[in-house]
Order: sequence, then C-alpha cells, then structure tokens
Amino acid sequence: MAEAEHPLIEAFREFSPQSAIVADRARKVFPGGDTRASAHYSPYPLTMKKAEGCILTDIDGNEILDCMNNFTSLIHGHAHPDIVDAVSRQAALGSAYAAPSMNQIELAELITERVSSIDKMRFCSSGTEGTLMALRCARAATGRQKIMKMEGGYHGSYELAEVSLVPLPDQRGDLEAPNSLAVDGSFPDSVLNDTVICPYNEPAMAKKLIGQHADDLAAVIVEPILGSMGMVSATTEFLNTLREETLKHGIVLIFDEVITLRVDMGGAQKVHGIEPDLSSMGKIIGGGLPVGGVGGKDELMQLFSPDSAHPVMHASTFSGNALTMAAGFAAMNAYSSSECARINEMADRLRKGFTRAFEQAGIKGQVTGMGSLSNLHFTDEPIHDARDSLTGMIAAGHVSRLLHLTMIRHGVMLASRLMCCVSTAMTDEHIERAITALNESLAEIRPFIENERPALMR
Ligand SMILES: Cc1ncc(COP(=O)(O)O)c(C=O)c1O
Repeated sequence: MAEAEHPLIEAFREFSPQSAIVADRARKVFPGGDTRASAHYSPYPLTMKKAEGCILTDIDGNEILDCMNNFTSLIHGHAHPDIVDAVSRQAALGSAYAAPSMNQIELAELITERVSSIDKMRFCSSGTEGTLMALRCARAATGRQKIMKMEGGYHGSYELAEVSLVPLPDQRGDLEAPNSLAVDGSFPDSVLNDTVICPYNEPAMAKKLIGQHADDLAAVIVEPILGSMGMVSATTEFLNTLREETLKHGIVLIFDEVITLRVDMGGAQKVHGIEPDLSSMGKIIGGGLPVGGVGGKDELMQLFSPDSAHPVMHASTFSGNALTMAAGFAAMNAYSSSECARINEMADRLRKGFTRAFEQAGIKGQVTGMGSLSNLHFTDEPIHDARDSLTGMIAAGHVSRLLHLTMIRHGVMLASRLMCCVSTAMTDEHIERAITALNESLAEIRPFIENERPALMR
C-alpha cells in the first residue's frame, strides 16, 4: 500500500480537516508548506489556534497535551501568568531600546548565579547565535581554526553546527575517525575540512583524536545530551575526558546547554560536576521568546568587551531586547529547584510508563533521556551514540511517523522524532494521560507493525 494511502494517515486527515485546508494555503507561500524544518511533519502539521498551560488547541478544536513544548524551550508550558504579565507590561513600555534595560541585567545576574562556570555572559537571539559566538570566541582566544564536534551533535542552523548530524552508515567511516559529513548541498568544503568529528561517549577515541589534532583545535563543542539524535546522555567519564584533554592542550571546551540547561538549576554541567570554559544557552532562558546566550570564564568572555583592543565582533539587533529579557526573567525566576526536581521526577515516571507500554504491546522499544527530557526509540538494543540511535531509526522506518501521528489523535503531541519533555504546567494526571495515549496508540498501530515491520515485534 502506498504510504500516502496508509489508513493511519487517512485517520489523521479525518482528525484535522481544517489544518489540511490551511496546509494547502501554506504551500502557496512556503516551500513545502512550512517555515521551520524541525516543526514540519507530513502529511501536514496541525495549525494551532491557542495554547494554555500544557494544552494546545488546534483550529479543528482538538485539545492536545503538549509534551514537546516548542522543542524543549517552554519550561512552564504556554502562557504562564507571570510571563504573560511581564511581557504585557514590557510591551507597553517598548520592546527594544538599543540600550541596556534593568531586566537584561537581572536575568544575567540570575543565570551567572546559578551556573557556576559562567562568570560573565552575553545575550543573543537564538541558540544558533549562542554557539556561533562561543566558537568565534574560542578561535579568537587560541588563534586556531579547527573545531571538534560530536558525531550526531546539533548546535544550530549553520553548516559547522550541523556537520555529521546524521551519520549515515554508508558515509560515516570508522568509529575511531569519523568522516566530516555534509547534511545538504550547501556545505562548503572549507567547513568540512575545519571540523573534526569525534565519536560520542568514547573516551579513549576522543583522547586520541584530540591529541592528533591538538595544534589546530580552537574548541571542542559537546552537548551533554545528544538532543537531535534522540536524547542520548553523555557519560560523566566521557565529559571528564574532554575536560582533561582540552585543558592539557589549551583547547576551549564548550558545553552546548541550549537544551540541557533545564535538567538542573546549574545545567547538565552541574549534574556531571564538570566546568566547561564556555557554555551556550537558549530556549528556556527566553521564557518563550527568541533567545540565545553565551557565557563562561571571565578571561575568555573579556574578548567580547567593547573596552578590549580588538573585541570579538558581536552586534545583533535584538540581543538582550527588553521584551525577551522580561519574559526570560519571569520564566527563570519561576523555575525553582523544587519545580526542577518535580518535573524531573514526573519525567522518570513517564519514561517508566512508556517503557512498560512498549513491553505490554510486545513491540521493541525504549526511552532514553535525562531530567525532564526524553526520547522514544523503536529498538531494544543499547543506545550510547548517534550511530545506535540512527540504527534504531532506520529499522523503524515509517513506523515512527505513524506513531507520531497516532499519538496526536490520542491527544498527545511529541516531536516527530519522538522527543518529549515535561513542563511545570504538567501534573501527575498529565503524565498518566500521556502513558495511556502511548498504550492506546501502540495497540492501534500494532497490526500494521506486524504486517509492515515485523522485525520490530518482540
Ligand atoms: C543543542 C542545541 N544547540 C543549539 C540549537 C540552536 O538553537 P536555536 O534553534 O534557538 O537557534 C539547538 C536547537 O534546537 C539545540 O538543540
């Protein structure tokens, strides 16, 4: 049966007729009908009318539990009263002054207080810009060109940040020295040549590769969780090796905490007890508005100072704009260590419930993650790097997509790559609801899996 005619896709169309009409309209103005790759899924994404707390309402009137939270950025879900109040008040006072505002300084004070490796910081408008500025700072500090990034790591929407994001089996080369892979046809050779790819969670191999390229390496950048490749947690041993080897060779160690800052008041670095030289941030620190940040050791951050002789150039029209800063301060202020512990604990229960759902359905599956961040995988093989994760994705084929669409019909929004996260807007009842939805969805798609992907059955 052709995929477009799959009964589960037909069921999705029946569930969302108004979104289907809007999607046709969107295709006339957006290539492929969408303006953001990660938020797109086929046959079309639902068009939303409103969202409050953890509930999304689409234009067909369906109410859906949001377990995706704009790809982990909405730590309090939608329209948190403190944030709505702060944004409304600030909007009336102006949104961007090209001058300091009090809430800019207050938010920076709060972040530098919580994250012990951050002496000083700068704001920008996206996580993309945050990692980019961290890399530029590292190059300026060391006078070196090359950057080491992890296989399967994602640091934003520019070429270097995406090299080897999807390490396809026929292209990736040996695990000990992975190839630098382009993600699309836009990648200049110079970027590929300037990027050294490191296997994730392989301390001995990382040590060897850092040693080999030490004279050329400005920075090693690593996510404490491989987010885009399925929420695969780094081991403390691996991150420790990166810390030791970068210190030994005078290389800047950057933790990309754009996703992981939420797992502890002090970020994932606190959980592992390791201090990077620089950290990039984004998502939750903007309270739902566009944001990014870079912060770290005083000595390195001074390179951005307008008072220094040749500062690293970082202008950016909306950096630290008053509206984002007001939203971010309200959000971070409302994110206490007790709320962090509460959502992490709810996510533990969610992972257990999801794992049981796979077992009860007799379907191979597991749930990876850390803190409030999780990802479902259709494999029972251990997942410790991007290659393992990709093997599971390839084996699952279109079944992941079918599960995503079926979960939406059962009232739960995951990311199409089956990522999910818990927000403070959720309660135990929402966790139960999400688990029930997975049980029901797996029961519904099980006959199709038996027929179309029997290797996924236990
Ligand atoms: C780890 C990581 N770094 C950087 C980024 C880029 O952030 P933004 O989308 O705000 O540019 C993302 C986005 O998902 C991310 O997950």
